[in-house]
Amino acid sequence: PRAPRINPSILAADFVNMQTELARIATADFAHVDVMDNHFVPNLTFGPQMVQRIQETSPVPLDVHLMITDPERWAPGYAELGAASVTFHLEAAVDPVSLARRLRDIGARAGVAVKPDTPVDGLFPVLDEFDQILVMTVEPGFGGQGFMPETMPKLRALSEEARRRGSQVWLQVDGGISDDTIAQAAAAGADTFVAGSAVYGQDDVEAAVSRLRHLARA
Ligand code: DX5
Ligand code: ZN
Repeated sequence: PRAPRINPSILAADFVNMQTELARIATADFAHVDVMDNHFVPNLTFGPQMVQRIQETSPVPLDVHLMITDPERWAPGYAELGAASVTFHLEAAVDPVSLARRLRDIGARAGVAVKPDTPVDGLFPVLDEFDQILVMTVEPGFGGQGFMPETMPKLRALSEEARRRGSQVWLQVDGGISDDTIAQAAAAGADTFVAGSAVYGQDDVEAAVSRLRHLARA
């Protein structure tokens, strides 16, 4: 079986102690970096200048999640600063396939994300254009929300289609992932798990990461 990837979301970290907060997740797979523009979502985080310093400081590669309008303008810059993966929203992109190709040309893994109400069937014919697909398990914008089990059929469908095509695409979930919910997302086909409050909300972050990894495998 595939080893589950655990990507702590630094949205739940202490922003003014980012260097220490990044050091705490050294045993995770990627640092999940939520970029919000108060336009695509009703919340605001940070932009390229901050992500550049996170990139220079993080002990693990960056998994950048862009919750922004006009990803065509901004996404390539995150790939250029060295993010391992750059995920933009399907709802925001004008031409998702060409944007994914640009990201891959720069050397990043190309990801596409869908909100809970966005269907995924349109992605089936172009699955190979992406390295990862992010199925949002909450409405994007805020940490600490409740997991939406009604998104699981989309994961199952993607996972089935990926298997049918022999695709290596990673299937990611983000939002409300915890000790209580991670197993159902894994059972539906997710292999990459973003967790904010479930990781940074614990005193022992390393133990939280290994517990999630274990529960995702079970
Ligand atoms: C929400 C962000 C998530 C957020 C998840 O829009 O995309 O990455 O940090 O936080 P939790 O794990 O607390 O739901
Ligand atoms: Zn996210």
